[in-house]
Amino acid sequence: MISNSLLGPLVSAGIIGVGKALPDNAVSNQDIVDMGLDTSDSWITERTGIKNRYIADENTSSVDLATIAAKRALEDAGIEVDSLDGIIVSTTTPDYSMFPSAACLLQSRLGARNIFALDVSAACTGFNYALSTGSQFVRTGQMKTVLVVAVDCLSKFVDWTDRSVCPLFGDGAGAVIVSEVKEGYGVLTIDLSSDGRYGDILKVQAGGSRQPMTQDSFDNKDHLIQMAGRAVFKTAVSKLVPSIRSVLEKYELSVEDIGTFVFHQANIRIIEFVKEKLGIADEQLYTNIHKYGNTSSASIPIVLDDKKSSFKDGELVMLIGFGAGFAWGVNIVKWGGRL
Ligand code: ACO
Repeated sequence: MISNSLLGPLVSAGIIGVGKALPDNAVSNQDIVDMGLDTSDSWITERTGIKNRYIADENTSSVDLATIAAKRALEDAGIEVDSLDGIIVSTTTPDYSMFPSAACLLQSRLGARNIFALDVSAACTGFNYALSTGSQFVRTGQMKTVLVVAVDCLSKFVDWTDRSVCPLFGDGAGAVIVSEVKEGYGVLTIDLSSDGRYGDILKVQAGGSRQPMTQDSFDNKDHLIQMAGRAVFKTAVSKLVPSIRSVLEKYELSVEDIGTFVFHQANIRIIEFVKEKLGIADEQLYTNIHKYGNTSSASIPIVLDDKKSSFKDGELVMLIGFGAGFAWGVNIVKWGGRL
């Protein structure tokens, strides 16, 4: 008989702890105007919903923020680092462009055992991909407890003279501890998608194997984020509305059955558009983009951390990610059920 076989009974895998970390440096819309950009607080607020964001200084990296968020999630779960069997980090801004992975660096920083450590790259949808991956290791019994961290420092890859991109992004990290929960609780659904035909609408041109970094690409700012804002907006809403509807239909749920919709905090107008289309009520929606800007894959777990004390036991929470790739994903989590 093989012990720890993949054929063992499935268990329910859920979130038992949440934490977040933000850099110290708050940057308001007015601060961006004061940098000399031809923009205004009212333009940024009306078009994006953003009032403030936190920006990592030159000494702060993604793994620095991930370490703080992870420690807070461990504390929230009331478990020691030795309990972890795996670490998954969602990031597109790891400390090093190729290797070592952010997850390996985080394993060392936390003083964790020699456990599974993996980076996931799915841009702003990364938390959905990472949570889905981690929860399946727990569900199959291969791991008891997995740390899932989403962290991004996109501010280091924006052109701070480009008013159409730089006001959008903030830096941050969110972390969750995934472990066995009572039957029927936890991550109930996994619905992940991609459409690579839209790769060009949000991209970093240089620094990969297609166009390794050269002096020319640096001078052209090809290592910084390029975004076709209107195309991103249209693609996001055209993918999200049918995707959320089909998930609800597949699991025989209605919009009213969901307690809280947690969207990736990209732009308040994308969120409002989907809200109107689906008939989501005000009290079913929680947003914090005004405080933190778009923190990429960290935005969903940062919302979870801000909101965690008000989720009810058994509440259905829908997590909706979308972004570069184009990739998008929807998970429904039944909150609570701690064993
Ligand atoms: N302040 C003042 N004017 C601005 C600014 C600014 N910060 N940014 C752009 N403009 C100007 C443009 O230069 C343009 O001027 P012009 O007409 O003289 O050429 C005008 O505003 C309109 O530009 P658009 O890009 O068409 O403006 P739009 O209304 O589409 O708003 C925005 C831009 C906010 C980026 C919008 O397209 C959007 O929300 N897109 C979604 C992108 C997004 O959410 N990205 C987040 C990252 S992706 C992700 O996480 C999924």
